[in-house]
Amino acid sequence: MLCIPPDAGKRDFVMEKIIINGGRPLRGTIEVSGAKNAAVPIILATLLINDKCTIENVPSISDVSLCMEILSTMGCKVRMLSKNTVEIDSRPAEGGLSPYELVRKMRGSYYLVGAELGRYGKAYVGLPGGCDFGVRPIDQHIKGFKALGASVSVEGGYIDARAEKLTGSSIYFDTVTVGGTINVILAAVRAKGNTVIENAAREPHIVDLANFLNSCGAKISGAGTDVIKIKGVDRLYGSTYAIIPDMIEAGTYMCAAAATRGHLRITNVIPKHLESISAKLEEMGVTIIENDDSVEVCHADDLHRVNIKTLPYPGFPTDMNPQIGVLLCLAKGVSCLTEGIFDNRFRYVEELKRMGANIKVDGSTAIIEGGTQLSAAPVKAVDLRAGVAMVIAGLCARGRTEIEDIHYIERGYDDIVGKLRSVGADIKKVIIPDPVSFEKAN
Ligand code: EPU
Repeated sequence: MLCIPPDAGKRDFVMEKIIINGGRPLRGTIEVSGAKNAAVPIILATLLINDKCTIENVPSISDVSLCMEILSTMGCKVRMLSKNTVEIDSRPAEGGLSPYELVRKMRGSYYLVGAELGRYGKAYVGLPGGCDFGVRPIDQHIKGFKALGASVSVEGGYIDARAEKLTGSSIYFDTVTVGGTINVILAAVRAKGNTVIENAAREPHIVDLANFLNSCGAKISGAGTDVIKIKGVDRLYGSTYAIIPDMIEAGTYMCAAAATRGHLRITNVIPKHLESISAKLEEMGVTIIENDDSVEVCHADDLHRVNIKTLPYPGFPTDMNPQIGVLLCLAKGVSCLTEGIFDNRFRYVEELKRMGANIKVDGSTAIIEGGTQLSAAPVKAVDLRAGVAMVIAGLCARGRTEIEDIHYIERGYDDIVGKLRSVGADIKKVIIPDPVSFEKAN
């Protein structure tokens, strides 16, 4: 018989789970945190600034902690001034010291390449990790760095980029890429001369990064359109900057309100960023009331079927695919959900089927037969948004849902358990002994 030691909770042999007793409508007010996909590049961009910056509205999520740990290891002085405000002094940092084991844990770590190239003229950074949605190439990032005059090779798990001098250039992306647009902006900000990025991504977090860099003295125009122009500057200066609210976190709680037949006021949002999500929810019959910096979401008596295709901003976000997928399981009729960005974003479907969902995936389209009463089951978070979709499914399913591998969810959701409890969910996080990891280690 397997004997689990009494101090297992203090050691590695534990697993964390989220447990939900579903069926309670969410009611009340929930506040959205700062945007993960803006916080990650902005925090890593402080390396490029070579001065002291204060970043506000920073979400408490593991991807952000990881960024701070990476910067600390590189020599930056990182100090939390409050729960959501961090001061980063990057003057003492050295290039080429990004720790492989930390870097490979997240996708956004590849922004170190742009930031290090821009500051030191060289970067040696481990290949990034992150959620598995199939192949996630970085050829467009490399194309951009090369256009600025860098030589780039990928060998032994590292990206090695060097440039005697970075010189402004014109770059046309073959595909719309958020990461590529951000990385080239970072490398170009301190290059000599002018850079033009065409077919650039238009996501709000790109605008946020550009606003932050401009607050430090950069000269970037056009962010939010598909042509971004950058006039290189010799140096940048520290500033104080607040990160925008997380549109995907907001969209997730919007879906949770609709799925549980609840009524939520979601605060600290920019309603404009939510337009594609609000439009689809309204088409499904959900009532959305927009205020200056909040939205109210009131469930529909009957959810209508809709077709959705994920697209680059301002289209319907791929990062909302799994959450809206759950909602479509509850709508009457057959809906088609087509993924337009990643090859393999439907890994959550198998988990959702355990809860009674009726979904067939055909290539990049999920055909969802709605009208299902989901039932509780033990499920796994297979990636960040897939994991949060299981939370939504658990909130509206009958019975007790247990979700494993919740470290994925904690990469991007600030205190999700506390926030959902505050609006009436019966949800808790538990830490329990993990016989599998104990057995492996012994
Ligand atoms: N692509 C290429 N070549 C490249 C770069 C991208 O072919 O050099 C392709 C990708 O394979 C994909 C498409 O272009 O098919 C878009 O990829 P993009 O570069 O825009 O995505 P990313 O930068 O890897 C970021 C977010 C993702 C979010 C996507 C799309 C971060 C750290 N990640 O990824 O966020 O899904 O943009 O909006 O910002 C999440 O938050 O859950 C998440 C996965």
